Amino acid sequence: MSSSDRVVLALGGAGTVGSGIVKALLDKGFKVAVISRDRSRLERLRSFVSPTTRDNLTTIVGNVGSEEGAEEAKQALLKAVGKVTDVVSSLGFSWWRGGPPHTQSLKDLHWVIETLLFSTFVSWKVFFPLVRDDCNCTYTFITGGAGEKLLMPGTGFLTVGAASALAFCQALREEYPEVPCKLNEVKINTGVDAPERTTPGYLNNLDLGEAVATLVEARNSSHSVFTVSSPADLKTALLERNL
Ligand SMILES: NC(=O)c1ccc[n+]([C@@H]2O[C@H](COP(=O)([O-])OP(=O)(O)OC[C@H]3O[C@@H](n4cnc5c(N)ncnc54)[C@H](OP(=O)(O)O)[C@@H]3O)[C@@H](O)[C@H]2O)c1
Repeated sequence: MSSSDRVVLALGGAGTVGSGIVKALLDKGFKVAVISRDRSRLERLRSFVSPTTRDNLTTIVGNVGSEEGAEEAKQALLKAVGKVTDVVSSLGFSWWRGGPPHTQSLKDLHWVIETLLFSTFVSWKVFFPLVRDDCNCTYTFITGGAGEKLLMPGTGFLTVGAASALAFCQALREEYPEVPCKLNEVKINTGVDAPERTTPGYLNNLDLGEAVATLVEARNSSHSVFTVSSPADLKTALLERNL
């Protein structure tokens, strides 16, 4: 199956991390579908990707944070693209520093968990059956090392939310050890931003996108965690292991 026969669903594909992945996948010849709650974000994504690949991008307005919303988005997706062969999930948010836990409300914690974990779980439950039983298919989660330590004072709930996503991915690897679909995680231990906004040590979303697209294209590994802590790791942790 060549890239042009493969259709990637990019969950969170209109975001900072996701948009770099979407652009790189399109540049490699994949068809890509993106679901976002925000129509204007989808329009920005459309103008961000290479003009010659735009016809291979399908955008759908939808909310994958609830079972009904995700089911509705799935129906719209299948109607538009017919099939899905790969999923990349980079749901969540770029940054959170709401303050130390004693200053936060249950509502704040709810929002963090909803955005980082609930949407990841619900969309996995709805979309994984499309790819689960085929060894030519892939499901890739993008997670963050913020779940392993407090990044700085005031980011406690980011740690809690990111840790819940890490634990969810681990649970999937261990609960489904034999699943044919290539199930992988790319864990990013540093910041990610657009090239014009990156500071030293940060990953730019275009380089990250290219490395993730290479992993998806290769389909060499499953049940692996690729940890990226610096720009150099993109080459050693991802590209060299998958080219
Ligand atoms: N940015 C970083 O520095 C960084 C570093 C390490 C790891 N990461 C990982 O990458 C993930 C994404 O980060 P990012 O910077 O790309 O964040 P972002 O720019 O805020 O993008 C996140 C995307 O998730 C989508 N999303 C969230 N809930 C949704 C829902 N219920 N239905 C549909 N879409 C939903 C948002 O879609 P809408 O368009 O609908 O808002 C948005 O496009 C993080 O959660 C983390 O796991 C990021």
